[in-house]
Amino acid sequence: MTQADATMKGKTCMITGATSGIGQATAVALARLGAKLILVCRHPKKGAATQQEIAHQTGNEDVQLILADLSSQAAVRQLAADFLATNQPLHVLINNAGVVNLQRQLTSDGIEEVFAVNHLAYFLLTNLLLDRLKASTPSRIVNVASEAHKVGPINFNDLGGAQRYRTMRAYGQSKLANIMFTYELARRLEGSGVTVNGVHPGAVATGLGKNNGRWAQGLIKALGLFFKTPEQGAATSIYVAASPQVEGVSGKYFLNSRERKTSKASYDVAAQQRLWKVSGEMTGLR
Ligand SMILES: NC(=O)c1ccc[n+]([C@@H]2O[C@H](COP(=O)([O-])OP(=O)(O)OC[C@H]3O[C@@H](n4cnc5c(N)ncnc54)[C@H](OP(=O)(O)O)[C@@H]3O)[C@@H](O)[C@H]2O)c1
Repeated sequence: MTQADATMKGKTCMITGATSGIGQATAVALARLGAKLILVCRHPKKGAATQQEIAHQTGNEDVQLILADLSSQAAVRQLAADFLATNQPLHVLINNAGVVNLQRQLTSDGIEEVFAVNHLAYFLLTNLLLDRLKASTPSRIVNVASEAHKVGPINFNDLGGAQRYRTMRAYGQSKLANIMFTYELARRLEGSGVTVNGVHPGAVATGLGKNNGRWAQGLIKALGLFFKTPEQGAATSIYVAASPQVEGVSGKYFLNSRERKTSKASYDVAAQQRLWKVSGEMTGLR
């Protein structure tokens, strides 16, 4: 998609995890297309620096910042309340913030952090903003998932890896949850004018995993030489968020801006419904 293909003038787009990597590159591109941006970031200084940098790089001053640590459900609820109180429409929600942990960690809510940030925050934030998205149609939800979802089915008996924690299993399961959430939500949103799709950005040189100490940082730096740049990695998120070619398309998964099939486990409708129910219970949503 070239910039001539799409304009986002008059569109309000919220993007989580905009201080780094794919989220930041996505935000810059959407600002260039003329969108009003709501950046969701957890660190005040980093968030403010990103806000200024995007405005400086693109000339688009319409960049707002909302602070929230997405590992905390109270913070996600506050973020949604803060945004809803502004009475702005919401045309695009990009659930992008993500984390990988070598060691199992619990959030302030006592939930394993990768599942909490990568899946439950997508689930809770989207549901809290759904009425506003419905009131702003045509509107789009983009869930940044990953090919790492192919690790296998959701382990409902040990969702948080309390019995056995394996890094890529926990990360992959959270990304599978992104896709299953996308498919279940698409069914629920049929005919509403709100679409929801998942994307895989590719293997991208970003800050993902850098929270795991020096050894991980070195490995990420070395691997990054062979990976896509954040700008290249953001291309599919931008396409799904903004391209006229995706108007009305829902319940799909995109890689390199093309629809792709996902794992067999991801299409299990009973498991999608079970995940929805469990996620509702874990976030206190009914
Ligand atoms: N990189 C890849 O190869 C790849 C491949 C497939 C999918 N993905 C997906 O792409 C998405 C973006 O990742 P990335 O590669 O761009 O990684 P990144 O550079 O590490 O960016 C992650 C973003 O998420 C934010 N974040 C993490 N935990 C948060 C929390 N608790 N509250 C609020 N924000 C939080 C980070 O904020 P801070 O700046 O404050 O840390 C950062 O802005 C993720 O969903 C990831 O799973 C990445």
